[in-house]
Amino acid sequence: MNFALQSALHVAVIMDGNGRWATLRGLPRMAGHQAGSEALRRAVEAAPDLGVTALTAYAFSCDNWKRPAEEVDAIMALLGWYLRDEIPRMLADRVRLSVIGRRDRLPDSLVGVIDEAEAATRGCNRLHLRLAIDYSARESILTATGLCGGGTNVTPERFEQTLAATHRGGPQPVDLLIRTGGEQRLSDFLLWECAYAELVFIRRMWPDFGGSDLAKAVTEFRRRERRFGDVPAPPIPVPVLGQERWLH
Ligand code: FPP
Repeated sequence: MNFALQSALHVAVIMDGNGRWATLRGLPRMAGHQAGSEALRRAVEAAPDLGVTALTAYAFSCDNWKRPAEEVDAIMALLGWYLRDEIPRMLADRVRLSVIGRRDRLPDSLVGVIDEAEAATRGCNRLHLRLAIDYSARESILTATGLCGGGTNVTPERFEQTLAATHRGGPQPVDLLIRTGGEQRLSDFLLWECAYAELVFIRRMWPDFGGSDLAKAVTEFRRRERRFGDVPAPPIPVPVLGQERWLH
């Protein structure tokens, strides 16, 4: 099947299971995050040929600051290395990078690399990779609500524009949300954007995730009927040799 000819997809991924992947192998948790960054690279590589035009990956939530300081520091360092290493590859593959979330609590060096990667890849248009770092959907929604000034005359359009500014990068609706690692929850990720997302939960730990897992999830997504609150589309009658058949 030529996925690329089908409608453009925004896929969001909750990259869960790095710690368990490492612990199961007797390795430090950071080895799981390192392997997780390689899995993200594989997903980015596979995405465009599957018709995915935007991929938003949850790298660090506002609640992740609760983790031990050594793990937080190591994830921040890994994010910086990852972004710096990936700039040439993103340019070659025409991947535009944006980071959504807060920046005021990130190390200056990481903010510098984010600025550099975003500026370098601004003109790329094959895939939009959005990394969520120090991100909380509830916090974004709350901030946008405050900026809109409350009241009952705030339109969804105005609210979405404000939310886009809060997020940096725009609140494109998510079509498909994938969570690895066996848990089945949203963990404060893209709550507004996932209003009509199809959810796919995968038992495999994130470091083991590859292009074929992404392809399976997209196939599963394409099988689902999205109704957005409407009734199912009426069947199309097809007369066949005097009998009536129905195509859905
Ligand atoms: C969830 O696994 C993962 C995180 C909170 C961090 C995500 C980080 C990465 C995927 C690696 C860094 C990414 C880049 C782009 C450099 P967990 O630690 O909660 O795993 P567990 O549930 O098994 O403990």
